[in-house]
Amino acid sequence: MPTKFFRSVILSTSLLLGVVACEAQTSQVKKEPIQMTSPASGSEMFNSYCAPCHGKEGKGNGPAAASLKIPPANLAELAKKNEGKFPADHVANILRSGVGGAHGSPDMPVWGPLFSQVSGRNDSIVQIRISNLIHYIESLQVK
Ligand code: HEC
Repeated sequence: MPTKFFRSVILSTSLLLGVVACEAQTSQVKKEPIQMTSPASGSEMFNSYCAPCHGKEGKGNGPAAASLKIPPANLAELAKKNEGKFPADHVANILRSGVGGAHGSPDMPVWGPLFSQVSGRNDSIVQIRISNLIHYIESLQVK
């Protein structure tokens, strides 16, 4: 029966599309629980928390960058874009409250609460984390 044949072809095509759509969805960035790092080591925190998106040198080319809707900022050019002055306060604000305030950017995490989580909710340790991380980002600046 030709009609039956066509129906089953249509059915299997739509099943196939379903699988393709699911696979496209799973190619999203994998969200993993935040790892413990030393608050004393800016490089350890940067490589663990920031490099997946921003890249090891901060240039915005980490392994997860391609799957983000908004490209990760080039953190090695923050000083260059600010008349040669590294904008430490700007970075500190973003780390505490996210890009563009409390709601953040869909692709850039709000780090304040996450740092608090890995610091036993101790705000002076959070402050040490932010300050060491900022020193490390400052060391990545290109001329
Ligand atoms: C999941 C990917 C991802 C991770 C992980 C990530 N970022 Fe980002 N970041 C982004 C994206 C995307 C933007 C651009 C957001 C926008 O413009 O809306 C951004 C923007 C920024 C900016 C703003 C730069 C500017 O020009 O004002 C700073 C600063 C920043 N990130 C620092 C960090 C630091 C420090 C870490 C690690 C603690 C980190 N990010 C981890 C994706 C990420």
